[in-house]
Amino acid sequence: MKDNTAAISEIKEIIGDDQPKAYIRSFGCQLNVSDGEKIKGLLRQMGYSFTEDEHEADLIILNTCAVRESAEDRVFGIVGSMKKLKELKPSLIIGIAGCMTAQSHIAEKIKKSYPQVDIVLGTSAISALPRLLLEALRGAEFSADISEYDDFSEVVEQVRDSSFKASVPIMFGCNNFCTYCIVPHVRGRERSRRADDIAAEVCQLVKSGYKEIMLLGQNVNSYGKDLEEDMDFPKLLRRLNEIEGDFWIRFMSSHPKDASKELIDAIFDCEKVAKHLHLPVQSGSSEVLRRMNRRYTVEKYMEIVDMIRSRAPGFSLTTDLIVGFPDESDEDFQGTLDIIRRVKYDNIYSFIYSKRSGTPAATMADGTSEEEKGRRMRKLLEVQREVSTEHYKRFVGRTMRVLADDTAKKKNGWLTGKSSEFIIVEFEGDSSLIGQFVDVEITGSMNWAVTGKIKG
Ligand code: SAM
Ligand code: SF4
Ligand code: F3S
Repeated sequence: MKDNTAAISEIKEIIGDDQPKAYIRSFGCQLNVSDGEKIKGLLRQMGYSFTEDEHEADLIILNTCAVRESAEDRVFGIVGSMKKLKELKPSLIIGIAGCMTAQSHIAEKIKKSYPQVDIVLGTSAISALPRLLLEALRGAEFSADISEYDDFSEVVEQVRDSSFKASVPIMFGCNNFCTYCIVPHVRGRERSRRADDIAAEVCQLVKSGYKEIMLLGQNVNSYGKDLEEDMDFPKLLRRLNEIEGDFWIRFMSSHPKDASKELIDAIFDCEKVAKHLHLPVQSGSSEVLRRMNRRYTVEKYMEIVDMIRSRAPGFSLTTDLIVGFPDESDEDFQGTLDIIRRVKYDNIYSFIYSKRSGTPAATMADGTSEEEKGRRMRKLLEVQREVSTEHYKRFVGRTMRVLADDTAKKKNGWLTGKSSEFIIVEFEGDSSLIGQFVDVEITGSMNWAVTGKIKG
């Protein structure tokens, strides 16, 4: 952990009472969004205020994602367009943080081809921000730090985007090395936070009125393996469930290879743990799963599903799927359609395979055309639409507890929220209910949401 006190006071002195405006944009997963909230916390300490409009910003930080090529292309497009902003305001400081920067070829490319960028900050070097910012404020043309220092979790007060839903990382990094995935290469090995620190943070959040706590990790099921204390994820859930208050605990992601009976028992036993499990399957072919290094088979995955559904037949499951992994055959793809139909997911997050340089899958032969992958993706979405249209009907006639989230789009006087089962629920209601739990009687269903009215 770096001591930032001197750099922070010097920055405060330079910027005085001006409260310059910072625009922070996070891409990618919720862990990255959580890092963005930490970056904001640090900037607030230095005297920055925040804006949603990049045109009025004095400092821009793009907190990037590297999981797919399209995510990187998007960031390069945005950085390119920021050249104009810099010409209009030469004092503007532009920083790139997050997972893209942890790849040395990308850090090089930014330095070489995007002179408008002043700062490059690695995923484990957020605490280096004050020093780099100070250098930029003093006129340095380019400062970078992509070393691996720390995760900075226990140190900085975050500026949270929501006043009722909070993300709490419980661990960082990943040890699984799925052959397609860049995450272990840019986020390092698994490091678990101490259970006491997590419990203290959750307690504080609940006291401040937070209603939903999302525990985050690339594989929460391996939480605690690196700790000296006798702790694992099911025990952590039970401990957090003891915290007093009216709130929900959610978590993601849960790797099927480590999903245990103890985890399922904890979900059912703990009344504060939401009744939904995100269980990424990635493919419905055991052969593809083997080449992905997922370390489970379709049969093993279905055993977990059956274990849950034998206790609660309609239990809500969601998943991640990759279409077009190198040399995925038509038969492999049929296996994926089959698992969607068998499990009846409430929602799927599906991606066309994207080649990530430095990962084992990037060197695997791939005879499937992009056109065919596109066709498979459309078919997959069609099958999921059929499944969810049918499956969502099971909620009609039930009363669901919903955390009201926002006003509904295109429906005046309506609100949207999520139920414990992670189902989108739309209902008529006043915006003063946003951030509150409400009971909603479900009267209708679609393939992506249910509708209803507040129970009188
Ligand atoms: N740790 C989580 C797990 O194993 O379930 C996943 C985290 S990853 C950030 C989110 C999803 O992105 C993965 O589940 C996978 O479906 C998708 N993904 C990762 N690498 C990908 C790639 N190279 N191409 C396409 N999708 C990818
Ligand atoms: Fe990537 Fe696999 Fe780790 Fe998830 S478990 S982050 S997919 S390597
Ligand atoms: Fe997340 Fe993207 Fe990094 S999904 S861990 S921000 S590569």
